[in-house]
Amino acid sequence: MTMALVLDNITKSFHQNRVVDNLDLTVHQGQAIALIGPNGAGKTTVFNLISGIYPLDQGRIYIDGTDVTNISSGRRIRAGVARSFQNVRLMPYLSVMDNLLLGQHLQASGVGTLLAPFRLMPHNRWREAAREALETYDLTGMENKPVGALPYGIRKRVDLVRATLTGARLLLLDEPAAGLNPSETNALRQHLDRMRIDGMTLVVIEHDMGFIERACDHVVVLNFGAKIAEGTLAQVQRNPLVQQAYIGTTAQQEVMA
Ligand SMILES: Nc1ncnc2c1ncn2[C@@H]1O[C@H](COP(=O)(O)OP(=O)(O)O)[C@@H](O)[C@H]1O
Ligand SMILES: [Mg+2]
Repeated sequence: MTMALVLDNITKSFHQNRVVDNLDLTVHQGQAIALIGPNGAGKTTVFNLISGIYPLDQGRIYIDGTDVTNISSGRRIRAGVARSFQNVRLMPYLSVMDNLLLGQHLQASGVGTLLAPFRLMPHNRWREAAREALETYDLTGMENKPVGALPYGIRKRVDLVRATLTGARLLLLDEPAAGLNPSETNALRQHLDRMRIDGMTLVVIEHDMGFIERACDHVVVLNFGAKIAEGTLAQVQRNPLVQQAYIGTTAQQEVMA
């Protein structure tokens, strides 16, 4: 079976400070993995390493079985990686549709020969694909609204749709439930489930344990850049190393709940 993502013993330091420490991680296609750990544990840095924002000091990264360790961030997008950020990054004055088309256009023309299939697709076909995606994700009727005028939860969903329209097969989500109310969180989770049915693989950084319990099937815990536990949410919550790592943090209650 092809692994969607393999991190093979990766290490990264910033100024002598080892932020990711000999980390191994394997994610199967269609799996949803949660990456948790106290603030500063190195979670966002792991995403930056997977998407090629920073080079590794040591180790290798494989996406769909291909060694991408030495290839650029742009070419990793072409290999099927997309991410959403801790804060939504859309153009607030443009409509939902324009944001989605811009996303596709940047994919197609941004970095060299990026996403050849999209380049060959006529522009009206992009619009059609965007419209279909909006319908699938319960955003029908939103296409002409300026993104800045939409509630935060809807904007997050638009950002997810944008990521799916890049043709991504591996989606990295950095705190997708942060700032969402319970009904928006629920809607987001349902949309993630739908993406997985369509074959998407997810790696999710999240503090909301209820969300993780429902949305993810495997949990990996980082502390000081090293993996200290993995398993089901219940398993890692019972782990004394995990409990110790969270002592004195604001997330302590949630993790030990
Ligand atoms: N570009 C960078 N330069 C220097 N230090 C960084 C950089 N990015 C992250 N760090 C440091 O790495 C550590 C882990 O950060 P981060 O990956 O953002 O943690 P998390 O997402 O788990 O809260 C922190 O101490 C942070 O200050
Ligand atoms: Mg972070």
